[in-house]
Amino acid sequence: MKGLLFFAFLGMTAEIAAGVGITVTVFSVTSKNMIVRWTRFPDATSYKVTVAPLSTPDDPTAFAQFGPNTVMGSVGPLSPNVVYEVKVEALANQVVLNTTSVESRTAPQTVNIDNVKAQDSSTLIVAFTPVGGATGYQLRVENAQGYFSEEAVASSPALVGSLLPYTTYSVSIMAVNSAGRSQPSSSVEARTCESCGRCLIRRRRATFSSVAIRPSSRRTHMSLASTEEESMAASRTVDGMMHHGARWCRQQRADQAGDEATASSLK
Ligand SMILES: *[C@@H]1O[C@H](CO)[C@@H](O)[C@H](O)[C@H]1NC(C)=O
Repeated sequence: MKGLLFFAFLGMTAEIAAGVGITVTVFSVTSKNMIVRWTRFPDATSYKVTVAPLSTPDDPTAFAQFGPNTVMGSVGPLSPNVVYEVKVEALANQVVLNTTSVESRTAPQTVNIDNVKAQDSSTLIVAFTPVGGATGYQLRVENAQGYFSEEAVASSPALVGSLLPYTTYSVSIMAVNSAGRSQPSSSVEARTCESCGRCLIRRRRATFSSVAIRPSSRRTHMSLASTEEESMAASRTVDGMMHHGARWCRQQRADQAGDEATASSLK
C-alpha cells in the first residue's frame, strides 16, 4: 500500500517542465540490482534504462524498458560492488528524444556467517567471512519473542551484548559500502548461556585443572593444570560438575517459573 501511494505521488509531482532535460537518480541499490528513478520528458512513449560497467561502457550488463507513465524501475541482474553507468533514454517510437546518465555502485556481496556462539549469559560472538569492498557490516539480531536489534560492526568476530540468559536468538548480517547494503546472510540461531555460568566452565575446561563449583554461592574456583594427567583428571571432574551444575540450573529455572506462576495467580 505504501509502495503504491509512493508511485502515485511521484507520478503527480514529476511535472514536465519545458526546456528541461530528463534527470535520473539511483533510488536504492542491492548487491544484484538498482532501483532507478527519472523525470518525464515531453512526448516520450517509453523509457529505456541501460546499465553498463563504468570500465566497459559499451558492454551493457542489463537493460529494461518502461511505459510512458512509469518514473521508477528496477534493473538487474548486476554484480556486487561494481561502479556502473546508468543511462536513461526517453524514446518515441524507438527514436531517442533525450538522454542522461549517472554513476552508481552496487552493494557488496552477501556475507556468510561462519558460526555464532555464546560467550556468556548476555553475549553472543558472531564469526563471519569478510567480503571485498565492504566498509562495514550491519548485524541483525531477533527472536520469536519479538526482540529486534541492528548494530554496525567493523570486523569479525563481533560481539552482541545486552541479551537475556538462556534465550535463543537468530543472527544475520549485511555488508555495507558507500552505495548501500547487501541482502542479509542466511540466519544462524544460537542460545545465550544460563546465568549460573556453565559455559564459562565449558570454555575453560581444557586449560584449568581444578575446578570447584559451589552452586549455592554461584562461585567458581579454578587453577592452571601443570601436567597432562592433571588436565585429564580435571576434565573428568568438570564433567561431573557440569552434570551437577546443569541439574542445579534446571532447578533454578523451575523455581523461577514457579515463583512467576505463583505471583501471577496471586494477582
Ligand atoms: C535534453 O533536453 C534538454 C531540454 O530540451 C536539452 O537542453 C538537452 O540538450 C537534451 N539533451 C540531450 C542529450 O538530448
